[in-house]
Amino acid sequence: MSIFAGLEAAPNDPIFHLTDQFNQDTDPRKVNLGVGVYQDDNGKVPLLKSVETVQRRMAEDPDPWTYLPMRGWEPFNEAAQKLVFGADSEPVASGRVATVQSLSGTGALLLGADLYHHQVAPDAGMIASGPTWANHHSLFRYAGYETGTYRYYDDAGQGIDFEAMLADIRAADPGTVVLLHACCHNPTGYDLSPEQWGPLAEVLADRGLAPFVDLAYEGFSHGLEEDAGMVRAFASAGLSFLVASSFSKNMAMYGGRTGAIHAVCADADEAARVKTQLARTVRSLYSNAPFQGATIAATILTDPDLRAGWEGEVAGMRMRIAGMRAALLGALEAEGVEDMGFITRQTGMFSFSGLSRDEMVRLRNEFHVYGLDNGRLCMAALNSRNVDHVATSIAAVHKR
Ligand code: LMR
Repeated sequence: MSIFAGLEAAPNDPIFHLTDQFNQDTDPRKVNLGVGVYQDDNGKVPLLKSVETVQRRMAEDPDPWTYLPMRGWEPFNEAAQKLVFGADSEPVASGRVATVQSLSGTGALLLGADLYHHQVAPDAGMIASGPTWANHHSLFRYAGYETGTYRYYDDAGQGIDFEAMLADIRAADPGTVVLLHACCHNPTGYDLSPEQWGPLAEVLADRGLAPFVDLAYEGFSHGLEEDAGMVRAFASAGLSFLVASSFSKNMAMYGGRTGAIHAVCADADEAARVKTQLARTVRSLYSNAPFQGATIAATILTDPDLRAGWEGEVAGMRMRIAGMRAALLGALEAEGVEDMGFITRQTGMFSFSGLSRDEMVRLRNEFHVYGLDNGRLCMAALNSRNVDHVATSIAAVHKR
């Protein structure tokens, strides 16, 4: 009798299972607008020039495969922290941010969730926007939390119901983790405006809540600086909070699993203690992080020429996505679809299309266009060759 005999198969992941289905589809018209991966106009995940340059240098002068410290590679931690909080910012200068290398944004979320649950507030729950990235709930539940939802997306108003969001957050128990998207809200593409960060920070502070900002897409909405605005506003407002940052998207290092968890503390002494706890969490979970991605990211961020080239590449990706949003909207309007103007008002990788589950299934089954069942479409996978097919397919399935 096997020890696994009673185990049922795990449910399909709504995002990665779609990629499996897409890979098996042999139709030449197929388009994968499911997973959040940027592709260039040739439908390829780019190897950024900045990344390639460092990779080549590493290949010419290879390092031995030694261990990184539990906290990760310190030059990487410092560079990642400066990118998020600003090189000359008060939180960086005062040393009150504890930064530890993570396995991309997902790993950073897990480290923060684990730390808070085991070391700070074992009974606290987590609330996230309705809707949110599906893995937010899975990850926090796995880490031991009960999870809930605060209202966010306003279908009728095609935007955010900010009053309802604040009311729900205000009603949460003190200590609750409030999961927030810094920019490029996944899946809706609707972000809070800078004017809304202050009132939100006030409620979070008044209610003694634990903000956790997911910064997975820095550079994909308005710019590297602008997209860190919520984080910087919270730090200026004196909140203590967590930030998960990632180089999966903005360095196109999806498989590099390179990111960082940042805990914004009251002072440098507290940050030093928190950092030892985060490092201990890493040790218990997987001992230490891999060095390749961290070396590449740190080298790019600290070498002025590479940095300038990379910033240009991020701007290029951002502008290409904006261009494809406009192209899709134009093609939809040419097909007579008049009610999707929101495509160019949403920002980041995704458009929350408003298409029903049935329409998404028809898109997939009849037209080989893959998007999530909740209507999310990845704008970063559109290109000049597939955009017309996507538009005619949406027009064919969309009930008006
Ligand atoms: C997505 O939302 O598609 C991406 O963040 C990839 C993932 O890990 O789900």
